[in-house]
Amino acid sequence: MKRILVTGGAGFIGANFVRLVLDEHPDTFVLNLDVLTYAGNLENLKGYTDNPIHVFVKGDICDADLVANLIDEHKIEAIVNFAAESHVDRSLVEPGVFIETNVKGTLTLLKIALDKKLERFLQVSTDEVYGSLGADGFFTETTPLSPNSPYSASKASADMLVAAFGHSWGLPYNITRCSNNYGPFQFPEKMIPLMINNALNDKALPIYGDGLYVRDWLYVYDHCTAIWNVLTQARAGTIYNIGGNNEKTNLEVVRLILDRLNKPESLIRHVKDRPGHDRRYAIDSSKVMRELGWKPTVTFEEGINKTIDWYLANTDWLNHVVSGQYQQYYEDMYSGR
Ligand code: NAD
Ligand code: DAU
Repeated sequence: MKRILVTGGAGFIGANFVRLVLDEHPDTFVLNLDVLTYAGNLENLKGYTDNPIHVFVKGDICDADLVANLIDEHKIEAIVNFAAESHVDRSLVEPGVFIETNVKGTLTLLKIALDKKLERFLQVSTDEVYGSLGADGFFTETTPLSPNSPYSASKASADMLVAAFGHSWGLPYNITRCSNNYGPFQFPEKMIPLMINNALNDKALPIYGDGLYVRDWLYVYDHCTAIWNVLTQARAGTIYNIGGNNEKTNLEVVRLILDRLNKPESLIRHVKDRPGHDRRYAIDSSKVMRELGWKPTVTFEEGINKTIDWYLANTDWLNHVVSGQYQQYYEDMYSGR
């Protein structure tokens, strides 16, 4: 499989994936389709756009004619679908756009993938489709879907459509369900870059509720290698969980960031909780490790240091993305808490 359509390739994980493919698998042609919402940023692809094996097109995955024409024009063999509205908090304010992109957009891509007889459709999904865990246990690929937020409900809907296209018409698909990613180019609405940005500016660090919510953090590069392995090695019709085996409470993560930046813990503020906040996520990744030889290569201690160093070295990037609309977003999301 040498000619792939990557959707959402100007966002956080998509851009990291495009960079990995161009750096490490340069016999692959990447067509990158991204509508450039607030989360999409061509700066994430700096140094990678003027390249014969990477064509960027600004466009919407819901635009069936555009997608179909691009697939013909560039002789695309597989789709890796990253494009999505990805932030839980935004889905609690404005769920409609999550249905448009995450559900209808995926459906548009599925119909075209089937029509064009593509070799593979890889849906990049999330552990949030499984809902929330108590104090013990892990999500496996057979854990029933039980999404709790409009975001996770839209992702679960998309997963079910993907599997239905496989079941009904034999579409060769894979679904990956990954835990929380962190690393370079993550938009500072998500917890880790938001806390880094606030700490750098001596602003309060807003911890939802008691801060004892648990996430299983994975460095973004390791998520991207897992997706590559699934794309190139997995049997059609299989689902893989991907995680870092690295559970941390939000308070632990924030304390680490403050410590690294030499900032006081007095910056921590407990604010009003997220409605319906999932208590704990933890992923059992043994299937992808056993079947596809994948394993994470970056420990959390290394990853968080690399991430903080990246934000310190890329203050221009950070300043660009937090200017303008971000200020209004921040005011709306945090002022009443
Ligand atoms: P992101 O919000 O940083 O990027 C999403 C990208 O999709 C942006 O570039 C945006 O412009 C683009 N996009 C949005 N709507 C589009 C549309 N209609 N047409 C074309 N492009 C569109 O998100 P992310 O964190 O990089 O997540 C990427 C994917 O990975 C998502 O599907 C998300 O559900 C999944 N995921 C994310 C995480 C995580 O921790 N961030 C973990 C597991 C899975
Ligand atoms: O688990 C995978 C998911 O991880 C992905 O599917 C989503 O796209 C991605 O956004 C992420 O979802 P979360 O809701 O877990 O990530 P977020 O960074 O928004 O929040 C992480 C934790 O930190 C969560 O428990 C909420 C908390 N939090 C978040 C923010 C933004 C705070 O306490 N304060 C904050 O200001």
